[in-house]
Amino acid sequence: MARDFTKVGVIGLGTMGAGIVEVFARNGIDVVAVEVDDDAVERGREHLTNSTGRAVARGKLSEEDQATLVSRVQFTSEMAALKDCQLVIEAVPEKLELKKEIFAKLDAIVAEDAILATNTSSLPVTEIAVATSNPKRVVGMHFFNPAPVMQFVEVIKTVVTADDIFERVKGLAERLGKRPVVVGDKAGFIANALLFGYLNHAVSMYESKYATREDIDAAMKLGCGYPMGPLALMDLIGLDTAYEILDTMYKQGRDRLHAPSPIIKQMVSAGLRGRKTGRGFYTYA
Ligand code: CAA
Repeated sequence: MARDFTKVGVIGLGTMGAGIVEVFARNGIDVVAVEVDDDAVERGREHLTNSTGRAVARGKLSEEDQATLVSRVQFTSEMAALKDCQLVIEAVPEKLELKKEIFAKLDAIVAEDAILATNTSSLPVTEIAVATSNPKRVVGMHFFNPAPVMQFVEVIKTVVTADDIFERVKGLAERLGKRPVVVGDKAGFIANALLFGYLNHAVSMYESKYATREDIDAAMKLGCGYPMGPLALMDLIGLDTAYEILDTMYKQGRDRLHAPSPIIKQMVSAGLRGRKTGRGFYTYA
């Protein structure tokens, strides 16, 4: 049923995009990985080399397999290189206008039967779809951070997504070793709709000096068995990304629990964006 995807594209090589590139390459799929300029392309390449290098260091991947994996990825700053891809997934920052612009461009580059997917966490997939001439082939494919590790993908179906399109994307997610769920185009889909009120609440507690960051995180990690505490998770997600998600969900009519705690914006402005900048709620080496 699911057509065999042999070549896919990824636009945007930040934390999520670079992780998604790794997921495809690890599963034997050729990837065209696109960033906006040469410096950003290099950062994307480094992300893949470092991430797979850690797997080599841990004895989970041989050097030969690492080299094969990396060779499957063509890094470029030219969107035109995506023309032969059977699916392109966009993972640029959570800015609706930027995503719409990219989808309008992509529409003219890829073949008529190619699938266009967005990894958006909270923006309306329908709005992105209607920026193209054929919204039926547009779908959400939402991975979780770290993409190579988390085994879940939300496939977002808009009112116009063709049935065969989301079925094929679901099949692809399964082939990548993920458990897919199909969900409608609602702010935050399933996981983020549940997660972000909790994360924001934890930040508010920290901001009001209710408890220390270590104690807040220990409560949820050691007391409730979560793999990591909420402030450490904010650092993993990235405070800029978390801010955009909360702000979008709040503006889309969620309750005040989703109004971003002021300290998030302040930390983003100060460059404290979490692990990716070396400092967020915690400091990283
Ligand atoms: N990239 C690739 N692999 C990674 C990785 C990364 N960034 N981080 C960890 N890993 C791998 C490690 O290499 C290791 O692999 P092996 O078992 O093969 O050796 C494995 O993951 C476990 O890592 P560690 O032993 O270093 O650490 P850990 O056991 O504490 O796990 C964790 C780290 C997987 C991040 C775990 O703490 C966890 O599951 N945290 C919760 C993550 C989470 O909630 N993600 C969802 C965020 S919300 C989201 O993504 C949605 C959105 O739209 C923003």
